[in-house]
Amino acid sequence: MSNFLLLPSILAADHGQFIAEMATVDLPAVEYLHVDVMDGHFVPNITFGPKVVASLKAHTRFKLDCHLMIEKVDDYIPAFAAAGADIITIHAEATHHLQRSLALIREKGAKAGVAINPATSLESIRWVLEDIDLVLIMSVNPGFGGQAFIPAALEKIRVLAEQRRKENRHFIIEVDGGIDARTAPQAYASGAEFLVAGSAIFGKKDRRAAIAKLHQAVETERQKLQSLYT
Ligand code: DX5
Ligand code: ZN
Repeated sequence: MSNFLLLPSILAADHGQFIAEMATVDLPAVEYLHVDVMDGHFVPNITFGPKVVASLKAHTRFKLDCHLMIEKVDDYIPAFAAAGADIITIHAEATHHLQRSLALIREKGAKAGVAINPATSLESIRWVLEDIDLVLIMSVNPGFGGQAFIPAALEKIRVLAEQRRKENRHFIIEVDGGIDARTAPQAYASGAEFLVAGSAIFGKKDRRAAIAKLHQAVETERQKLQSLYT
C-alpha cells in the first residue's frame, strides 16, 4: 500500500501568528503545509496573497502546497511560484484554458496540481492528466474550513485511482475538506495519499496529539489493507 502524508491546512490556524502556529505542527511526519489562497470571487472568502506565502516560506522548513481558489490564475501563478510554492494547484472550474495554466505552473518551476469541486466530473480533467503532478479532489465546496465531508468524494477518488492504475500514471491524489480521524482512513482506502486537514489539526489545542490521532487512524487502515494483499 502506498504511503500517505497529512498536510495541515493553515486556514484553520491563527492568521495573526503563522510562525508560532507552524512550529506547533513541526513533526518529522509533516512534510508539507497546505496553504489556501482565496480571492473573494471564485469562492466567497478572502485569505492572503503571494507576499504572505513568501514570508511563510522564509520561516519554515515545510514545503508549501498552495491551493489557489482564485480566478485569473495565469496572472498570479508566476508570483506564487516566485514566492516559493512547491505545488501550485488551480481549479479546473476557474480557468478557461486549463492546459495552458498547468503548463505555466511547470514552466515556473512548481509542481502542477488541478483541483475539482464536488459537483465537477472527473471527465473535466481527462485530457490534462499528462500535464499534472497532483489531482485534488475537493470533499467540501471550497471557501471555508470546518465543513462536513461529502461522501461522494470517496467514489470519485476510487474511480480516479483505478484510472491511474490502469493507465500507469503517477500523479498524487489529494483530498481536502472535512478530513478527520473517521474520514481520513476512508479517503486513504479509496486511493488518496495526500490528506489535508485544517480543523482536525489547527482546530485542536494539542496539535501533536491531533496529528498523532489522524496518523494512527490512517496507519491502522494501511496495515489492514496491506494484510489483505500480502
Ligand atoms: C476549503 C479549503 C480547505 C480547508 C479544509 O476551502 O480548501 O483546505 O482548510 O478545512 P477542514 O479540514 O477544516 O475541512
Ligand atoms: Zn485547500
